[in-house]
Amino acid sequence: MESSGILGLGCYLPAKKLTNKDLEKIVDTSDEWIMTRTGIKERRIAPKEFAASDMGVEAAKSAIKDAGLKPEDIDLIIVATVTADMAFPSTACIIQDKIGAINSAAFDINAACSGFVFGIVTAKQFVDSGLYKNVLVIGTEKMTNLVDWTDRSTCVLFGDGAGACIVGKSKARQIVSYFIGCDGSGSNLLRLPAGGSRTPTTEETVKNKLHFLKMEGNEVFKLAVKVMADAANKAITKAGLLCSEINLLIPHQANIRILMAVAKKMGLPEEKIFLNIEKYGNMSSASTAVALAEANREQRIKKGDIVALVAFGSGLTYGAVVIKW
Ligand code: UT7
Repeated sequence: MESSGILGLGCYLPAKKLTNKDLEKIVDTSDEWIMTRTGIKERRIAPKEFAASDMGVEAAKSAIKDAGLKPEDIDLIIVATVTADMAFPSTACIIQDKIGAINSAAFDINAACSGFVFGIVTAKQFVDSGLYKNVLVIGTEKMTNLVDWTDRSTCVLFGDGAGACIVGKSKARQIVSYFIGCDGSGSNLLRLPAGGSRTPTTEETVKNKLHFLKMEGNEVFKLAVKVMADAANKAITKAGLLCSEINLLIPHQANIRILMAVAKKMGLPEEKIFLNIEKYGNMSSASTAVALAEANREQRIKKGDIVALVAFGSGLTYGAVVIKW
């Protein structure tokens, strides 16, 4: 029987790599510290002239092709990003024009690193209701624009990239359950202080580096382990499954130590956790999007497998989606 599922997947990673060795020349850090504390070896840097929409376009085109569709077949574009081209118009509108999806509605969502998961859940509502047939969900981020390249506690963590999927009625790769949540009391833990209506841009805000992301790393770390495991467990239980029945957990790639702690909490062996953090670092909403596309391309998922996508991020937001391949 048909129900909402994944019709196609795609991703885009900029060619330019920034290695830990390169970072040693920029800030007081070491390859050894970054590898052991985070699991990151290198990250991708988008070209200067590339914005989130340009990466999103590439990921979208490959997902549309993978689904065997044409841009005109897309009914809705949802873009998850915290690095929108501009405050407005939405990056989704810019992508709609660039790919020629002339029949689609388009809007952005901001759920930070959980954005792609929130996007899939939102897309599913439109498909289930019968309003739309093909919804394009994109996670695209130019995180390297948001980091303070003199702050070693954050600049080593992030990278650029984009991933996309098409959600529509399908006999395979069905979305069997999901859970999304939020704890706004943690909104100060990871934020971009200036440039919004609270603290508009002034010479002072620029001088004080308030347009770069600020993070309480230790606090976020502890909460991340808890909320990711909880979100995944809730979605898995809702699907009537046990953690042991999960074939592959595809988590937001924030820190390898967080991911190993989540795996332990869920009783999953390491080989059931999909990892690409070493190559790309944390790409916010693009992390789960790229990981899902890569896991599929690398044939880490077989027909009939149960896959759980799980993420957390600024907000704090968290969520999980269970897919039967
Ligand atoms: O997707 C969004 C969510 N974000 C996250 O999930 C990030 C969550 N947090 C983390 O991943 C970790 O907290 C960090 C990787 C950010 C930091 O790791 P940590 O093990 O929590 O280190 P720490 O903040 O406790 O710092 C330990 C030491 C400090 O030095 P002192 O005060 O002990 O002398 C830092 O100054 O490590 C120092 N340090 C560094 N040293 C070398 C911090 N960053 C670096 C660095 N290179 N890049």
